[in-house]
Amino acid sequence: MLHRTNTLVAQRVNGLRVNAARLRADIELLASIGRTSEGALARYAFSPAYEEARAWLKTRMAHAGMAVRDDAAGNTIGRIGPDGGACVMAGSHIDTVPDGGPLDGALGVLAALEVARVIKEAHIELPFAFECVAFIEEEGRFLGRMGSKAMAGVLRQASVEDGMDPSGYRLTEAMRTAGFDPSAATQARRPADDISAYVELHIEQGPVLEQLGVPIGVVEAIVATSHTRITFEGEPDHAGTAPMDLRKDAFTGAAEYACRARELVLKEGTKGQGRLTFGVVDLKPQVANIVPYQVQLLQDIRDVSDAAVAKMVGGTRAIAEDVASKHRLTVRHEHVSGDTAAIMSEHVRAAIHEVAATLGLPTHDMPSGAAHDAQIMARLVPAGMIFVPSAGGRSHRRDERTDWAHLEQGANVFLHTVLRLLADGTVQS
Ligand code: GLV
Ligand code: MN
Ligand code: MN
Repeated sequence: MLHRTNTLVAQRVNGLRVNAARLRADIELLASIGRTSEGALARYAFSPAYEEARAWLKTRMAHAGMAVRDDAAGNTIGRIGPDGGACVMAGSHIDTVPDGGPLDGALGVLAALEVARVIKEAHIELPFAFECVAFIEEEGRFLGRMGSKAMAGVLRQASVEDGMDPSGYRLTEAMRTAGFDPSAATQARRPADDISAYVELHIEQGPVLEQLGVPIGVVEAIVATSHTRITFEGEPDHAGTAPMDLRKDAFTGAAEYACRARELVLKEGTKGQGRLTFGVVDLKPQVANIVPYQVQLLQDIRDVSDAAVAKMVGGTRAIAEDVASKHRLTVRHEHVSGDTAAIMSEHVRAAIHEVAATLGLPTHDMPSGAAHDAQIMARLVPAGMIFVPSAGGRSHRRDERTDWAHLEQGANVFLHTVLRLLADGTVQS
């Protein structure tokens, strides 16, 4: 049932705008926490740098007049408005990839904080609460989207126990060191009627908006992802004496596999938009004069369609078997993680469109090739995402950048989308 209170309309919120200078100062301040000597960001979930950023954010939220808490999974939440009842939630994450940039995730959290400040300063009496959230561990140091999974009730305790970063450091130990009880993580689950809608402002992380010259992206769907560890095993041999046709070279097999898998994904992906990445390649024994006897690939396949991802995973598996037999290797496949595709709420998307039109800003409807907390929250509540252009389409690198004018436009669309959702109270998906 759609229930519109009109309370906010009566309070004439239309003229409100974010304080862009204040938002920029916050982005720059947060970007000074976890900075490496090369000028990148390394703010990994539950690390000392992350905990410093969390403490800074909580102080900022408290200054904004929010009631602040960490939940059992390690999400940081600030709330304004009524103590009880449902809320509209907005946010993103403040952890980064290795060698990351200042905007991925940080923008959504700091813009939500700015929205809370605007609401407070304008003395708007909220019919429903507004919550600003920094979800823990979005970027996959251990699991990926761990905080939103916990909140949506889809985090398994076994995943918490098994979670390990690439160096072998356990999630359970990281949580304990940061002051959290890993056995309580799934208690961060929220009932669906606690949250009437979730909205996230994020950089696009791709080139589409910039190429179109459009300032606002309205996300229609977020891709399904599948991560598989593929291990080719051969035999070590002398690099000079072992004849080429007699060796069992795991690297040659893995290389052929990667090229054939790429062809398959280009062919089978929805509208040619499937994605395949081998971001981690581990070769043994890493010696110039020994034929490599083992190669492990961490394979990331994405597509807007769950069925297409399943088909591509099956197809690449068949290719791996074929390549292994041709090169006289063995091959193992281990499913590491995966998220299903998510459709964004029509109601939230309509709110974003209406707001952007009112502000005179053109929009473009688009899928997201990047994973986001909104993808997980969509399983629990109506969820939507607003994109702003990424300069040069670059992200997951230290020089990710968005024009300040675009950030301000995006933040204002975000502010008024939140206000609309607060006025709606209960939304339809
Ligand atoms: C996170 O940024 C992802 O897309 O995996
Ligand atoms: Mn992100
Ligand atoms: Mn990211």
